[in-house]
Amino acid sequence: MCGIIGVAGCGDETLSVVLDGLSTLEYRGYDSAGVALTDETLDVAKREGRLSVLQSALEERADPPTGEVGVGHTRWSTHGPPTDVNAHPHTDQAGRVAVVHNGIIENYQQLRDDLREEGVEFESDTDTEVVPKLIAAALDAGADPETAVREGVDRLAGSYALVVTIAGDDRLFAARNDSPLVLGIGDGAHYLASDVPAFLEHTREVVYLNDGEFATVSADDYRVTDADGTRVEKESTTVNWSAEQTGKGGYDHFMLKEIHEQPTALRQSLSGRTDALDGRVTLEELDEPGDPRRVQFVAAGTSYHAALYGAALLRQAGVPAQASLSSEYATAPAPVSTDTLVVGVTQSGETADTLSALREARDRGAETLAVTNVVGSTAARECAHALYIRAGPEICVAATKTFSSQLVTLNLLAEHLAGQDAGTRKLIPALRNLPDDLQAVLDQSVATTVVDDYLGKESFFFIGRGLHHPVALEGALKFKEITYEHAEGFAAGELKHGTLALVTPETPVFAVVTGEGERAHKTIGNVKEVQARGAPVVAVTDGVSEVQRYADHVLAVPETHERLAPVLANVQLQLVAYHMADRLSRSIDKPRNLAKSVTVE
Ligand code: G6P
Repeated sequence: MCGIIGVAGCGDETLSVVLDGLSTLEYRGYDSAGVALTDETLDVAKREGRLSVLQSALEERADPPTGEVGVGHTRWSTHGPPTDVNAHPHTDQAGRVAVVHNGIIENYQQLRDDLREEGVEFESDTDTEVVPKLIAAALDAGADPETAVREGVDRLAGSYALVVTIAGDDRLFAARNDSPLVLGIGDGAHYLASDVPAFLEHTREVVYLNDGEFATVSADDYRVTDADGTRVEKESTTVNWSAEQTGKGGYDHFMLKEIHEQPTALRQSLSGRTDALDGRVTLEELDEPGDPRRVQFVAAGTSYHAALYGAALLRQAGVPAQASLSSEYATAPAPVSTDTLVVGVTQSGETADTLSALREARDRGAETLAVTNVVGSTAARECAHALYIRAGPEICVAATKTFSSQLVTLNLLAEHLAGQDAGTRKLIPALRNLPDDLQAVLDQSVATTVVDDYLGKESFFFIGRGLHHPVALEGALKFKEITYEHAEGFAAGELKHGTLALVTPETPVFAVVTGEGERAHKTIGNVKEVQARGAPVVAVTDGVSEVQRYADHVLAVPETHERLAPVLANVQLQLVAYHMADRLSRSIDKPRNLAKSVTVE
């Protein structure tokens, strides 16, 4: 995820309007930033690091960039580490075309190969650099600027919000597919951005662009067209947000915003990695797998729950796998040999316990792999391999979208390591449908009703079996992290071996049960046990299981592949935790005593 902006009609203020806009978009990415301002020539400045690094570099310049139009970008790396060269805007060889991009160009490798054959050279590792080069090729072939942008964009597959500026042209060109892009209508000025706060200081009148639409924007005019070039009449809306809501995109908390970003996060995790036609998963970052090996996962907190899930997936596929808490593994590692792959699951890539466990494994001769969200993080640099979950930046301390993206990425890793078969072919359509299924959960959840019924209860228990066991653990962790109420998660069959002593009418039990078959049947048995002790039961279920007959409340998830039901069930539990914490007026985004990335052991 990245933040982009384009402005037209700001005169001498162009640079400051672009930089101010970028500062409100830093929540979308902050590992490097850049701007391009255009008059007869392009003036591009970009720097690795936070926006402040770029700002300082620009302040030091005797001749800061000027231009009638300008674009800017704040980056969250997906292709290539955060460096000056990989930062946006990207340009063509002649320096006429500059492009800022949010999304992932899936066919960039093929396009690069094609352009290289025509003699075009590339300087960055990014997927984006093909875009200015395609547009420049169309300009060279005689196309006018608008047609050249269209021709370039027509060749792209994947997700993009793009803003393009061309030297000598006072217009901006924009296109959108699967990444957000909004147009702001000002007085003698127009703005394009990933999110409204980027230009809220200048106008509240906005037009939301849809997938497949193009916009041509100048100081005093804008025109939106569809893929065929036909003009689309768009209605503008007036946004009415308070200043403090804006960084949160209109949500009350980053946590709720990030919960709602999950369909996009999953699309990014999956982008370019599954092929429905040949039924295979491709992870470009990893070598071709050799013989299946022993796999040990190490992780902490929420990531440990993802690791438990990943290990269970591999065992189901016949690969010996286990998950350990990093802090335990670091001082008491499991035996490793040269055929052992140790996988550190860590959204930040900086958790001291996990780094320590990975170093211990490496020193003992194991191969290491980091599954992380942060390109260039310590875990990514120190491990032999890195696989990115591509969730985009997560601000709330409690992990939500990174957990869902971890589960999805671990599915891809399991297919990669276990050897792909007919099962992969069956999984891929379900994976590709998962973002829509998740959206349906967000649209239809009745979590607030459940929360209202159980406010003030003594303790909350979460149970699940098999792949739902990590979800039960995660449901309880999320709940206690942000509500400060007592909650515990269990393997469904384990509750009766002790904790049942605590079960009363004052202890709601959340039971995650999907599908039918032995596991679901046995968990229903466990549900009956708690119900016999008077506990209210909330079933998180797909409607296939009979569990709803025994439940006081049902939190429904769409039917999906049995391996993916835990992803959807977990979203319901995220919403329960969020709304309970909200009712209790807790500090949701920064819970007491906790930190997003714990860099001490
Ligand atoms: C901290 C955070 C947790 C997180 C854990 C592991 O404790 O508060 O939310 O799950 O670290 O973080 P990692 O970055 O390694 O996934």
